[in-house]
Amino acid sequence: MSIDPFPTPTPEIENLLAEDRKFPPDPAFAAQANATAELYAEAEADPEAFWARLARERIDWVEDFHTTLEWDLPFAKWFVGGKLNIAYNCIDRHVERGLGHKVAYHWIGEPGDTRTITFADLQREVSKAANALLELGVQTGDRVAIYMPMIPELPIAMLACARIGAPHTVVFGGFSAEALSGRISDCQAKLVITADGGWRRGKPAPLKPAVDEALESSPTIEHTLVVRRLGDAVEGGTAMQDGRDVWWDDIVDRQPPVHEPVALDSEHMLYLLYTSGTTAKPKGIVHSTAGYLLGASFTHEMVFDVKPDDVYWCAADVGWVTGHSYIVYGPLANATTSVLYEGTPDTPDWGRWWQIIEDYKVNILYCAPTAIRAHMKQGAQYAQAHDLSSLRVLGSVGEPINPVAWLWYQKHIGAGTKPIVDTWWQTETGMIMITPLPGVTTTKPGSATFPFPGIEVDVIDSAGNTVPLGGGGLLVLKRPWPAMLRGIYGDPERYKETYWSRFPGMYFAGDGAKRDLEGYLWLLGRVDDVMNVSGHRLSTTEIESALVSHPAVAEAAVVGGPDPVTGEAINAFVILRLGPSNEPTPALGDELRKHVATKISPIAKPKGLMFVPDLPKTRSGKIMRRLLRDIAQGRALGDTTTLADAGVVDLIRSNTGASED
Ligand code: WTA
Repeated sequence: MSIDPFPTPTPEIENLLAEDRKFPPDPAFAAQANATAELYAEAEADPEAFWARLARERIDWVEDFHTTLEWDLPFAKWFVGGKLNIAYNCIDRHVERGLGHKVAYHWIGEPGDTRTITFADLQREVSKAANALLELGVQTGDRVAIYMPMIPELPIAMLACARIGAPHTVVFGGFSAEALSGRISDCQAKLVITADGGWRRGKPAPLKPAVDEALESSPTIEHTLVVRRLGDAVEGGTAMQDGRDVWWDDIVDRQPPVHEPVALDSEHMLYLLYTSGTTAKPKGIVHSTAGYLLGASFTHEMVFDVKPDDVYWCAADVGWVTGHSYIVYGPLANATTSVLYEGTPDTPDWGRWWQIIEDYKVNILYCAPTAIRAHMKQGAQYAQAHDLSSLRVLGSVGEPINPVAWLWYQKHIGAGTKPIVDTWWQTETGMIMITPLPGVTTTKPGSATFPFPGIEVDVIDSAGNTVPLGGGGLLVLKRPWPAMLRGIYGDPERYKETYWSRFPGMYFAGDGAKRDLEGYLWLLGRVDDVMNVSGHRLSTTEIESALVSHPAVAEAAVVGGPDPVTGEAINAFVILRLGPSNEPTPALGDELRKHVATKISPIAKPKGLMFVPDLPKTRSGKIMRRLLRDIAQGRALGDTTTLADAGVVDLIRSNTGASED
């Protein structure tokens, strides 16, 4: 069953918020940039030839491919006939070229313990882990679930799977036993790789009990492989079931340190990653090997302008696609040195990230708008107490970044001058799709700017026609790309229906977007979040950005609720920046509502406005507007399984600082 996000004929999404500040590239940066404007021209002239050239230049093949693309809409095969191993491309070839001593990961545990892992270390550890998988009966093609904290064994486990061709499915360590068992059952995994737990906000957070619970309803699992991270810090010790559960140390450490990577087809399934949509059952997004490797590594090098000696830090969790593409496969394929941090940004205090950047002289930081807004709420004093001069490029991903958060990021983290790359993409796209190229693109705060070279994007109306420049509509992708999803695991019909059925021949991303008069793309959030007020389709993103542009506001979420007069009324939830003058008073509420009216239009003025201490978010940091709609309308809450912190909803409900007309 599909859910039609547009039950009635829909006009375009209104394009109301005007943000026209511009930041041209610094000529000194441009002179040394990896990317050039010629890439766009080359890719446009012949996209397939463009990707084929890059695939031959960037990938070490066991066998060359004979066909660049087989496109049986909507099923793509890239680099057909080729054989390769992605773990070899991420590790061994660098060691063979003399980079064995180079650091792959500077790992930092939350309590302050550290490990330095070179590419030679990775080669040895991944080979041993691959041999252990074989001993545990895992074969090429078998699925392996990985449920771990942010410790080095997490990428090691993924690469060990990739080395033998066993597709992995990483389940974020914050998910419940139920979520884990659902994913294991869907893909019929044979093994779970996990840990006794990890450190989170100064406390041990055990993981193994959730695995035990999940396995009560996961008959396909034969073994668990358990890394010892917490050891004695687990109260009462970690229970291990004889014959089923194996400590990592016991089996991996005694393996031979050499393993011959298996040569796999270009289209071999590298991994599955589950993403929840509007319906309850998560979708197992399938990614393959060669196209994914090319997409992740090439975008990584171009979008972040990564140089051989850079220290790069993507502060996402490996459990999300951002971590797969831009902590593991992209950076390692480029022989990049990365920071990997176990904990949260507020432990022991909000200076932790900035301390890490100072200590490791981090050159590139990639994080989510939710993190930037959380830092904005705390104030810039934490960042100001540290030397951040090593930073050269700052990235953002996961949600639209409000212009003010963009400007804050650049001013306080990027010394007012460093390029910001706002990157739009999805679990499904595998790679960054819409982004500035630093040194090439003139940026505008809040705009993801233009499609990456070779990517074709359009903004269309509900009839499928291109919306003229200056207007808003639905974001679609019109041409296959190497890292695209190959399907939904076990459900080709759902794949067609979800992404390819609404507009024939086009991939419908589910996001709204506008293109300004200069062709810049502005992402407007998920289309299910769009509101219809007095016949105007308004994007939540624009109203939220208007609220955040007020100096008292750190973060805002906007949802629609039924209104007898206007159809839908706008309800705003606002988090104030910490500061003595920012009191949640009715007067400030009125001021904020007027501020939106001036910034956008009186039709966009929120009817209700509530000050809240926090917002319900998914575990990857996206605001769950669906739950806010339930709260605003006094309904019972819908599915809350992906909610990061269940207490937040009660906090909001018990909050009294509301102001209404
Ligand atoms: C949103 C994360 C605006 C969007 C890589 C998309 C963004 C969804 C941006 C995918 C951005 C991601 N600007 N919105 N720069 N990046 N999104 O699968 O709604 O976790 O469809 O992948 O996040 O989220 P996912």
